[in-house]
Amino acid sequence: MIDTLILDSKHTWHPYNSLPSKTKILPVKETYAQTIVLEDGTKLVDGMSSWWSAIHGYNHPVLVEALKQQADIMPHIMFGGLTHRPAVELCKKLSDLTGLESIFLADSGSVSVEVALKTAILYNKAKGKNVDKFIALNHSYHGDTLGCMGVCDPVNSMHSLYGEYLNKNIFCDVEDLEETITKHKDELAGVIVEPIVQGAGGMKIHSPSYLKIARELCSFYDIPLIADEIATGFGHTGLMWGCDHANIKPDIMTVGKSLTGGIMTLAAMLTSKHISDAISNSDIGVLMHGPTFMGNPLACSVANASIDLLLSSPWQERVKNIEKTFKKDLEVLKEHPLVEDVRSIGAIGVVELKSDTFAQKLQDSCVKEGVWLRPFGRLLYSIVAYTITEDELKKITSAMKKAVYNL
Ligand SMILES: Cc1ncc(COP(=O)(O)O)c(C=O)c1O
Repeated sequence: MIDTLILDSKHTWHPYNSLPSKTKILPVKETYAQTIVLEDGTKLVDGMSSWWSAIHGYNHPVLVEALKQQADIMPHIMFGGLTHRPAVELCKKLSDLTGLESIFLADSGSVSVEVALKTAILYNKAKGKNVDKFIALNHSYHGDTLGCMGVCDPVNSMHSLYGEYLNKNIFCDVEDLEETITKHKDELAGVIVEPIVQGAGGMKIHSPSYLKIARELCSFYDIPLIADEIATGFGHTGLMWGCDHANIKPDIMTVGKSLTGGIMTLAAMLTSKHISDAISNSDIGVLMHGPTFMGNPLACSVANASIDLLLSSPWQERVKNIEKTFKKDLEVLKEHPLVEDVRSIGAIGVVELKSDTFAQKLQDSCVKEGVWLRPFGRLLYSIVAYTITEDELKKITSAMKKAVYNL
């Protein structure tokens, strides 16, 4: 049998990478709970929860069982003109959890953001407004498809690579949101934000006031407010939704990542009945989008099981304890000369360095300590499963500290 890494280097393109990969790739054999087992038997405590998704840890028996049961009944069926129990139950659950009644199931986070942007444009059109500009925040990240890239941070993202191909939107800092919305109100199709935590664009944590301001102004000018909760949702910031920190309800929301507890790809665009009615009852009449694997029954069944599992667990207490440990254990790094900032919220712990040259070195050091982390740019960060044990979390925070001290 050809070695996995050799085969990998011939044909397999990894995210944000060259082919063959310019950075180290580790072959994984299996996973369980908060453990990743490499092909050579090395066990790593997982500090990434597979990019914010595996909130219940890996291979949770309840989720695996839901998948198996649905696989026997109906692994997939087209959603055009047909419906099924797992999808309608999921939409009901999401509606109950958010207060947004109208749900469009999508197959990845980026696709749900595309659908959110399209929904906002169609809502405006239905109201007789031909507008197509969005306000997005500096340091935002909303996905990698072309529409999404058009609302990602213009400097620190991929705008320079795709240039003219991307939509020209309006960007501002959180502090300037009020002024920017007011100035551009007549050309806006929507305002899109990551609530409370900006993830892949810089792991920035904000106070809730910008969400309140955005809500107030968007309501006043009848501009759809889009909250991208793909990363923050399902409890990552300590509350179910990032928007809950400001006690606001967006007009459009996107969820993904931990929607299925991290074992299937699935996302959703949620909106108010006001918006879905405006589109449905206008001359436009329909939301023009329809992925082949929309509402995949396997993914919907797992998502239903994951939401039930989350709601029946003491997740808030668990996330609070994780936050406490991150705060207490990482605090000491604030004094380190190479460290710019240390911050944490909910299940997220972040160490921001002064330089972006250390990512691979930091990762190597953590792996040596038996911990899987994937630093990027100036950020050494961890987002953990809510089921992580105190010992596992301590192993992660001490690996983070050691990695910084070893620089
Ligand atoms: C806030 C946010 N929006 C959208 C996305 C895109 O989701 P996906 O990678 O599933 O396409 C991500 C992914 O990291 C995200 O963090």
